[in-house]
Amino acid sequence: MRADETPDSKLKRNFVVAIDGPAGAGKSTIARHLARHFGLLNLETGAMYRAFALKALRLDVPLDDPGALERVAAETEIKLEPGEDENRVLLDGEDVTGQIRNQTVTDAASRVSVFPPIRAAMVKRQQEMGAQGGVVMEGRDIGTVVFPNAEVKIFLDAAPEVRGMRRYDQIGQSGHPSAKPVPPPEEVIRDLRARDERDRNRADSPLRPAPDAFLLDSTNLSLEEAVQAAEDTVEAWLAKQGHTASDR
Ligand code: DC
Repeated sequence: MRADETPDSKLKRNFVVAIDGPAGAGKSTIARHLARHFGLLNLETGAMYRAFALKALRLDVPLDDPGALERVAAETEIKLEPGEDENRVLLDGEDVTGQIRNQTVTDAASRVSVFPPIRAAMVKRQQEMGAQGGVVMEGRDIGTVVFPNAEVKIFLDAAPEVRGMRRYDQIGQSGHPSAKPVPPPEEVIRDLRARDERDRNRADSPLRPAPDAFLLDSTNLSLEEAVQAAEDTVEAWLAKQGHTASDR
């Protein structure tokens, strides 16, 4: 602890916010906002599974071969560098931030993430990154496995149709490569349901709320309202510790 620091201010700076939920629930927007608002680092763990999937695809490793994937994982270094808007993702030192959001990598990430050795390697790195606290970490298993003692846990959800339409709008806005037309909404919703199914039903660390998570269903909320509800949850925790927003 620094000389000018009280146990209170240390706690205020070092807490962990775990945000879990399915694709398209608004995790990234909310995590980004909370990180800015409360002065925390924002770490998107999905980007790590995506970077690993990109490597497996590049090496042509079968995505259903846990042994081969584990060997690749043992020789892979993935780093997340928190940035203003999104994390910079380094795969063996190469910046792959712009290459991990397409549908092929998205699907592969969900496939490789079912295997326990892959998860164990990722979880270990995530725990190291968050060991000092002061982070908002988003993913699928943060409140249940990575940081089961996180001070604030939020589980975000929304109806699949709503999440699918949000994802569809995002794809349109982010300028889908012109060679590939934007897929119709039904296809986006179908892909999202398939991924949900895999993420929720895998044997190791399935997507589910921690028993002590605050459940935030944004089906009938605007993204702004969902962001506000998440902010209020963190504020409520801080207030319980004796802090108010004006202390920040
Ligand atoms: O959050 P995302 O869409 O970038 O995640 C991509 C995939 O990675 C997702 O389908 C499941 C997996 N994932 C995971 O298993 N555990 C996490 N903590 C984060 C992501």
